[in-house]
Amino acid sequence: MRVKVNGLQVAYTDEGAGLPLLLVHGFPLNRKTWSKQVEAFKARHRVIAPDLRGLGQSESTPGPVSMSRFAEDLHALMDYLGTGPVILVGHSMGGYVALAFAHAFPKMLRGLVLVGTKAGKDTPETAAARRATAEKVRNVDASVVVDAMAPKMLAPTNTDEAMAAAVREFMIPSHPEGIIGALLGMADRPDARNWLGKIRVPTLVIAGADDSIIPPSESEAMAEAIPGAKLTLIPKAGHLVAFERPEAFNECLRVWLAWGGDEPRSRKVRISERPAGSNLMEAWSP
Ligand code: MLT
Repeated sequence: MRVKVNGLQVAYTDEGAGLPLLLVHGFPLNRKTWSKQVEAFKARHRVIAPDLRGLGQSESTPGPVSMSRFAEDLHALMDYLGTGPVILVGHSMGGYVALAFAHAFPKMLRGLVLVGTKAGKDTPETAAARRATAEKVRNVDASVVVDAMAPKMLAPTNTDEAMAAAVREFMIPSHPEGIIGALLGMADRPDARNWLGKIRVPTLVIAGADDSIIPPSESEAMAEAIPGAKLTLIPKAGHLVAFERPEAFNECLRVWLAWGGDEPRSRKVRISERPAGSNLMEAWSP
């Protein structure tokens, strides 16, 4: 499906009914990376997965795209779809966007799931490398990014060639202008670490134990800083953990959802820090 919101055509998937899950993909990917979650959760949830501005089948716009601009696009889509507050699931760059969304629109969240992502901003070196890559994409084409990133998306020990080919396929449709915009937006993104302590919704942090793009230590640090957050590291999984180990990922998300984002193990440690009534299911009325 496609709709014009916030000044651009946004492509999205919208299936099922129930407490809404909004799935936000990473860079330079698209909503197809969530196909195994859409199938698994649509029986109990409304599952919405957009292509971010300039990626997948969504329209691109010239210039840098800030994480808050991506978050505004999500908000506009939610408004159009009449979702009300959602459980926002963000992978990698989608996690940067999810944190920007949590900062800008806290009342539109019921829960937060941060996958293979981090809260800190780029070092000056990383930001400079992103700007140089954006320049190369402008002068050559998007294959510069696809060739560099595709081999790092799965666990180093994963020898599944069909899966590796599927990951490359996810990256191909992205428009060079969209790739450049996202690279420049990530290079300029603010440090979100100070926002973490203010998150007041149930939060689940998931990472692939063998992620070579964003180390799992970043997930550990986020889970420590977010009141009541639960952390799961999935073994034998790399950066694209939800696609690479869908059974383990879906089980982890399913259990967390079934406990209303408040598993007994995390309750013991930090439930006192969460305001009453913030449990996912308590807050949800169909
Ligand atoms: C992603 O998967 O979204 C990117 O690797 C994030 C990044 O480059 O920081």
